[in-house]
Amino acid sequence: MKINREQLIEKYIEFLKSKKHKEIQNSSLIPENDPTVLFTTAGMHPLVPYLLGQPHPQGKKLVNVQRCIRTGDIEEVGDTTHHTFFEMLGNWSLGDYFKKEAIEYSFEFLTKTLKIPIERLAVSVFSGDKNAPRDNEASEIWINLGISKERIAFLNKKENWWGPAGNTGPCGPDTEIFYCASKENPPKKYNPQDNNWVEIGNNVLMQYVKDEKGKYNEAKQKNIDFGGGVERILAVLNNHEDNYQTEIWKPIIEEIEKLSKKNYKGNEKPMRIIADHIKASVFIIADGITPSNLEQGYVLRRLIRRAIRYGKRLGISPDADLTTPLVKIIIKIYSGTYSHLKKNKEKIINELNLEENKFEKTLDKGLKEFKKMSLNKQISNKEAFLLFQSYGFPIEMTKELAKEKSIKVDEKGFQKELEKHQELSRTATAGKFKSGLADKGEETTKLHTAAHLLLAAIRKTLGNDINQRGSNITSERLRFDFNFDRKLTDEEKKKIEDLVNKKIQEKLEVKQEEMTLKQAKEKGATGAFDNKYGNKVTVYTIKGFSKELCAGPHVTNTSKLGKFKIKKEQSSSSGVRRIKAELI
Ligand code: ALA
Repeated sequence: MKINREQLIEKYIEFLKSKKHKEIQNSSLIPENDPTVLFTTAGMHPLVPYLLGQPHPQGKKLVNVQRCIRTGDIEEVGDTTHHTFFEMLGNWSLGDYFKKEAIEYSFEFLTKTLKIPIERLAVSVFSGDKNAPRDNEASEIWINLGISKERIAFLNKKENWWGPAGNTGPCGPDTEIFYCASKENPPKKYNPQDNNWVEIGNNVLMQYVKDEKGKYNEAKQKNIDFGGGVERILAVLNNHEDNYQTEIWKPIIEEIEKLSKKNYKGNEKPMRIIADHIKASVFIIADGITPSNLEQGYVLRRLIRRAIRYGKRLGISPDADLTTPLVKIIIKIYSGTYSHLKKNKEKIINELNLEENKFEKTLDKGLKEFKKMSLNKQISNKEAFLLFQSYGFPIEMTKELAKEKSIKVDEKGFQKELEKHQELSRTATAGKFKSGLADKGEETTKLHTAAHLLLAAIRKTLGNDINQRGSNITSERLRFDFNFDRKLTDEEKKKIEDLVNKKIQEKLEVKQEEMTLKQAKEKGATGAFDNKYGNKVTVYTIKGFSKELCAGPHVTNTSKLGKFKIKKEQSSSSGVRRIKAELI
C-alpha cells in the first residue's frame, strides 16, 4: 500500500481509537524531571510513572506517536534503517489488556489497515531463561492468527527482552514483528540472520520491574508497550529498500547532492550521516538545547561536528553554508505535526551556524595535526586529548579518523586525561548517552511541584513573558532554566524564594485535571503547546497561583514541601538563566 507519513500516523491513531484508546500528548525530546536519561528514547519513556502504577488521567489504554532520539547506536547510523531521530507509533495498556489483545491489535493493524500480506510477516518470541519462562503463549496467539510455525523464532534475552530503559524499571519479554523486504518471494522460514527481514514493530509484555539489586520482580500491574518505527514502516509499505528513499529523507538527501555536486549513489554513508545528524540537531535545538560541553548539549555538539566532517569529506566547501538549506527542508517536512519547529526556525539556523563556524575554524588545523600524529601509527592519550581540547574533536571523531587509517587510539587514557581536566560533565564522560529511568521517588515528586511554584514566582516577579527552558530534577535538588537576559539581583532572588515559601505555607491543593489543549490555552496554562497529536493534556493547578501543562507526578498539597531555598543563579546559555534550588 502506497502511503505517506501523515496518512500512516493518522491511520494508526484512528485504528487504536477504534479500539477505545485515548490519544496522549507527544512529549519533548528532553525528558522532564528525569536526571538519569538525556533523551526520550521511546514512547514509553514519558509514561514510566504510569507504567509503575500511578493512574493516568486519560485512562488505561493510550496511543500516540512520539518523537525520539537514540544515540546508543550512533555507529550504525549510515546504514539503511537506523536513525538518531525517529518517530515511534505507540500503544499502551496500563494494567488493562495483555498479550492476546496486544498481538491481535498489531496483527489487525498491519494486515487489515495497512494491508501487509501475511506472507511477508515473521515474528520472534522469548525463548526463556532463569527470570522468565519461554513464551509459548505468545507463539500460540501468533499461530492462531495464521503465522506459520516456521515464521516464528524463539530467541534469547539479548534479542527478545526489552528494558528497563535504564538500570531499573518496567521490563519484560517482547515479541517482535518483521517484514520481508526482499524483492523475491519471501522464504518459507524466518531466518533472524537474514537482513531482508526488517523489524517494524515490537510488543513489550511488561510483566516485571527490575530493582536496584538487579532482581526482576513480578509487576503489580502488567502492561503492554507497543512501539513501531514510522521510518521503517513507511519504507516497506512504499517498497523502498532504503529508508532514505522515503519522502521524509529524500528531499534532504537531494539537497546534499546539490551542495556537494555528488550523487547519492556511491556516497550513501556520508550523505545519510549528514541528513540524520542535522535532522536530529534541528529537533534537539527546537526542544531548547544549545551546543555545549554538557549533557544533551554535548551530544548535540557531537552530532553537528560529525555532520560537518562528513560534509567536508564530500567536498562541501567550508565557506558553503551546509546547515541552513537542510534546516529549511527538514522544517518543511515536519511542520504539519510540530509547530514548534517553525517557531524556532531562526534560533535553529543561528545555533547551527554558530557551531558550524566555531568548528570550521579549528577543523582543518586539527586534521593536519591528526595526520602528523598518525605517522606514529597510534594516537596516545595526550594526543587524543589535545585534539579534543584545542581542536574540538569529540573522541569518537578521533576514533573514526583512526579507524579509517587502521590505527589505534588510547581511549581509556583519553578518558583519564579528560577526568583530570574536567569541566565536561560526569554524565558525558561516563558515556551515559543511552538512557535510564528516573527515580520517581517522593523527593523528586516534591521538587517537581516546587518547580511549578518556582516558575509561577519567577513570572510574578520578572514578568509573564518568561517561560521554562528546561529542568532537571534529582532527589536532592532541582535545576530550572528560563529565558531572561541578565543576572537576577539579590532582591529579586529573595522575592522569588519568599513567594514560593509563602505558597508552601498557605497549604494549597495541587489539582490534576484533564482537558483539551484548547481549554488549557484558554485557561491560561503555561507549558509547551507544540503538538498536533494528542490534543488531551494534563494540567496541574496550584490554587490561585500556578497552572501548568505537565505529565506529573506531583504532591497533592504544597504543605508537603518543607522549605524552599535557592542555592545558585547563573547563566545557562545566551538569554537563558539557571536556578538551582533545594527543599530543606
Ligand atoms: N519500547 C519498545 C521499543 O522501544 C516498544 O522497542
